[in-house]
Amino acid sequence: MNKTLLDTFGRTIEYVRLSVTDRCDLRCFYCMPQGFRDFEAPEHWLTFDEIEKVMAAFADLGVKRVRLTGGEPLVRKGLPELTSRLAALPGIEDLSLSSNAVQLARDAKALYEGGVRRLNISLDSLRPERFKEITGGRLDKVLAGLRAARETGFDPIKINMVVMRGINDDEVEAVTDFCLEHGFTLRFIETMPMGETGREASEMFLDLREVRERLEKRFDLVPGVMPGGGPARYVQVTGTDLRIGFITPISQHFCDTCNRVRLGVDGTLYTCLGQDHSYPLREHLRNGATHDEIRAHILKAIALKPERHEFNEKPGRIVRFMSMTGG
Ligand code: GTP
Ligand code: 5AD
Ligand code: SF4
Repeated sequence: MNKTLLDTFGRTIEYVRLSVTDRCDLRCFYCMPQGFRDFEAPEHWLTFDEIEKVMAAFADLGVKRVRLTGGEPLVRKGLPELTSRLAALPGIEDLSLSSNAVQLARDAKALYEGGVRRLNISLDSLRPERFKEITGGRLDKVLAGLRAARETGFDPIKINMVVMRGINDDEVEAVTDFCLEHGFTLRFIETMPMGETGREASEMFLDLREVRERLEKRFDLVPGVMPGGGPARYVQVTGTDLRIGFITPISQHFCDTCNRVRLGVDGTLYTCLGQDHSYPLREHLRNGATHDEIRAHILKAIALKPERHEFNEKPGRIVRFMSMTGG
């Protein structure tokens, strides 16, 4: 029987973004700056059994898609075991991963065997020096991870580029050519103000309509479609296989079609990326809540999902770092 989980605005909630760790092996300055130490204690991390229990309740309510996020999800030990367990849950049709790809060469095969099919990979620069400045890490490892992912057969592989004025906006064309050459889908993302990162998101903000106009000088762009359940709006580059997505939370928000909630590593359910509302599940899990009780808690949380974010009206209000929910 098809089940539908609805919020109070009539939106169907079918997608859970599951943060399996709040740690990361990079330090992208817009997400988790250098020196960041405020990590969740390991005893607060949901165990794989607890995650499976929550996701079984979500699936039973109508959720079909699960995306593993972090921090960096590959930092969590034994992740392929968890993905196999989630892929086996009745009702889960789409298992995907958002990663920085630093450790992907090691894990690609095991993740594929564990049921993950779609990968979204962050890549903000193709210049090693600049990549290091933005992320603190090594570009060659990411490129090796991407090669391994392609050889393993993940499809689609989407490249996420957060476009920042004065920082990497001069690489829009270079990253586009890279995706054309390697058969990756490309998504440009507008910077969102999350957490006290020491930099003003508004100062590096670049409206993606500007990026689109630049690309239109080089390419003929027509509306495109792409597998996935997220907020990107796609175009196809005529005469090629390349699809480009624009993720525009600031210039043209997409909250009216929101289909998702987020589960933090500590079992906190966040019903909106750009709002504070949350609902704690861990204490209920550890007090022995049954499947039906977890379902009831999820329903209570969903009933309080806000209509939309307020990044534009109240910039700087969200003190939660992006790394807690993995975007
Ligand atoms: P698919 O479409 O299923 O491939 O996934 P996705 O694009 O939603 O996932 P990904 O983790 O690659 O996220 C890309 C960007 O979209 C990140 O910057 C996320 O923070 C942003 N994003 C994803 N979902 C939401 C959302 O509900 N609200 C907002 N404001 N941003 C989101
Ligand atoms: N604004 C926009 N996108 C962000 N991401 C991380 N932090 C931010 C932010 N402040 C992106 C990452 C990754 C995706 C899951 O979220 O670059 O590709
Ligand atoms: Fe959904 Fe909140 Fe993201 Fe808007 S900001 S799309 S309501 S999670």
